[in-house]
Amino acid sequence: MFQSERFFREAWPTISQAVESPADAARAVQWILGRTGLTRGTAVLDAPCGFGRHSVEFARRGYHVTGVDFNETEVERARSAAKSARVTMRLMCQDMRDMEFSGEFDLAVNLFSSIGYFSDDEDRLLLDRFWHALKPGGLFVLDTRNRDHSVRAMPPEERLPVDDGTLRIENRFDATTSRWHARWWRLPHEAGDAATGELVGETEIRLYAAHELRAMLRPERWSQVDVYGALDGTPFSLDTPRLVFVARK
Ligand SMILES: C[S@@+](CC[C@H](N)C(=O)[O-])C[C@H]1O[C@@H](n2cnc3c(N)ncnc32)[C@H](O)[C@@H]1O
Repeated sequence: MFQSERFFREAWPTISQAVESPADAARAVQWILGRTGLTRGTAVLDAPCGFGRHSVEFARRGYHVTGVDFNETEVERARSAAKSARVTMRLMCQDMRDMEFSGEFDLAVNLFSSIGYFSDDEDRLLLDRFWHALKPGGLFVLDTRNRDHSVRAMPPEERLPVDDGTLRIENRFDATTSRWHARWWRLPHEAGDAATGELVGETEIRLYAAHELRAMLRPERWSQVDVYGALDGTPFSLDTPRLVFVARK
């Protein structure tokens, strides 16, 4: 079991829909398609797909989508979302480290901080799997937290409004490992400012600097690797909270 596995298997589905916005996903997909110039009818891999917010947006626009996630609840939600949107897509309940696609996709995406869950070696192997999954000339888009921004700007605590109250996230960045340790707490509406709340779960995620992820991608394998600071084309800098790679095989 990797450090955050229990959290993603058990706790994540209880908060994912409150923290992951379908409207943001629609905007991100629009930018990705504009940036990549991918034509309708081509094949897209979304891993991990969560409850399918990006997958559905790709499918709505006429792309053939495969979504992979190891959480059955999230995959079932993605299935229902596809049905409601009257689109079809292939959904696979699988550990993304076991993906064995070969030369199938025109575009592969790994979005919303979905790398860094494993050891550095396993993360590197995961990146290799995306490379293998792509056709020659295919594109890979990765969007995650910018470690260099987090080092200076990670707040000790964050609060997010959720349906039944507030999500309180206690953050700690370990500079010796570059791993972000978070404890996720749920506070009911009636809780006062001093309340700590009920512990939802804990995560431990490796944050990467741009040069580290770039090296892990093995730039010699790709014909082009571009870096952005958000999924809207913002230029990358030490001050952008996000780190986005667009790489062409
Ligand atoms: C932060 S969410 C992002 C989901 C999606 N990309 C989005 O933006 O909505 C991370 C997802 O990774 C999934 N996950 C975590 N570890 C995984 C693994 N080893 N294999 C496949 N999915 C995994 C979780 O179930 C969760 O849905």
